[in-house]
Amino acid sequence: MRLAHTSGADPLASFTERYHELTKYNPHTIDKLGPVHWDRQPPAFKAISSKTKIDLLSRLQSVMDHLEKDETVPEGPEAGLENIARLLFFTLGLTARLSEPGGEDHFLRAAPSAGGLYPTEMYVAARNQSGLPDGIYHYHSLKSALIPVWQGAFWADLKHYFLGHPAVDASGLILIFTGLYGRSAWRYKERAYRRILLDTGHAVGNLLEVCRSAGLDHSLLGGFLDAGLEELLFLGAKEEFPLLGVAIGPGGSLPAVSGQYPGEHPAEAIRHALPSDAMQVQQNSCERIRNEKQLRPPVEGPCGGPAFTVPEGFNAFRTILGRRSCRKFNSKPIALDKVREALSYAFRPQGAPWCLTSGHLRFHLVALNVTGLMPGVFRIDPTTLELNLQRAGDFRTETYTMCLGQDLAEECAYAVVHSADLAALAGTYGDRGYRYACMDAGQLGERINLWAVHQALGSSGIGGYYDDQANELVDVPLTHGILYITLVGVPEE
Ligand SMILES: Cc1cc2nc3c(=O)[nH]c(=O)nc-3n(C[C@H](O)[C@H](O)[C@H](O)COP(=O)(O)O)c2cc1C
Repeated sequence: MRLAHTSGADPLASFTERYHELTKYNPHTIDKLGPVHWDRQPPAFKAISSKTKIDLLSRLQSVMDHLEKDETVPEGPEAGLENIARLLFFTLGLTARLSEPGGEDHFLRAAPSAGGLYPTEMYVAARNQSGLPDGIYHYHSLKSALIPVWQGAFWADLKHYFLGHPAVDASGLILIFTGLYGRSAWRYKERAYRRILLDTGHAVGNLLEVCRSAGLDHSLLGGFLDAGLEELLFLGAKEEFPLLGVAIGPGGSLPAVSGQYPGEHPAEAIRHALPSDAMQVQQNSCERIRNEKQLRPPVEGPCGGPAFTVPEGFNAFRTILGRRSCRKFNSKPIALDKVREALSYAFRPQGAPWCLTSGHLRFHLVALNVTGLMPGVFRIDPTTLELNLQRAGDFRTETYTMCLGQDLAEECAYAVVHSADLAALAGTYGDRGYRYACMDAGQLGERINLWAVHQALGSSGIGGYYDDQANELVDVPLTHGILYITLVGVPEE
């Protein structure tokens, strides 16, 4: 299949463009997706494979004590088990429990997740961390514990798999995010991978916020030998995919490295897609870096807009603990100043780069009820945060219809639509660019969520939308993939 291409130079469309195209929701075909088999939902937590568990709950006591007393949380230890416990819990720990009489408990976590399915898992590679033997551990969020996966000397392998990234050498703590594909695919079918990447981006957004507030350095490791990490973490082939590594260290300890490795050229990568695999597994196959000898150099570029000082009163831990997706907005307006503040927080630079792609994402603001701003669609310039009017008008009905008739979409005050020119993305980063871009969109969504909590407003991610209607609403060509939508509004009391 030859899909629309902006450059026109490459006769072979990337797999990314195919995957995105074929996983679009469309009002004429959505009914053909088939029913959701609720009885086939896989377990929400991984089985524990080791008799040893390293408890993290007790290590959270001091931060919880401060939060209970409504106190500022002092910067904790910059390394060691207590630091790890904080990072993991406030990234993806269990923060709420929904109990139904006679039913099973359902847990909600620090980061949001499409459908509350939580396909993102986290692993910790640790060395010289007080209280923790050197090793690789799985974070078991239900038990609030680390489960050993591997112990012994593995740092040289890790460095090799992360393509010799200097932050791996400098760090004693690498968090690795994976996506457990079946946990989302039973419900969302071929569109699951999109949501897994977005979910993971949200979790990364929390992690970097905690790093910032704790004065820790981070370095995003988007480039790695996928198969090597799979082997190191004992991941089930074509079931659990490594998606991102994040090196963490005390402030000032990590080298400033920017840029992410592209994957193979799409024309090469497509040869690895096995038609017998699910389309999203094929997408992951095309994203992989298989050989360090044929690596193309990292792509560097700008990350973030104007500087913004996060106010002292913003307590990252309390904000993350208090975050929930809003389930009902009351259709009331939000003042333009508040919208600008949210964008300033969301797009701000943060020491080392926080985004994986550079300048490839596009953002539009759909103003439905913003005091001081005419209703309409505005293009957000991510470097200056200027709002440029694209289409004036009241697009409440269009937004509602586009979001599959979800009430939230007509009751919110504004929506942020995240998109990317897929051919350009694949041209720069290969198919791996799709992974990077969707995680960036998720991260930006989480930054908007956290600021909404701070402003006592509500927000929700929207992963279910009619793609082409969204292109039409924000007036971008169909060569641009709509990656995500974030809604913000005044929550109903
Ligand atoms: C990628 C993504 C897509 C989502 N899509 C929708 C959606 O289409 N509609 C909706 O009401 N909520 C959506 N949500 C919100 C989830 O339903 C919510 O995160 C989940 O139920 C957990 O609740 P919590 O966010 O309050 O912790 C989405 C969240 C994410 C991260």
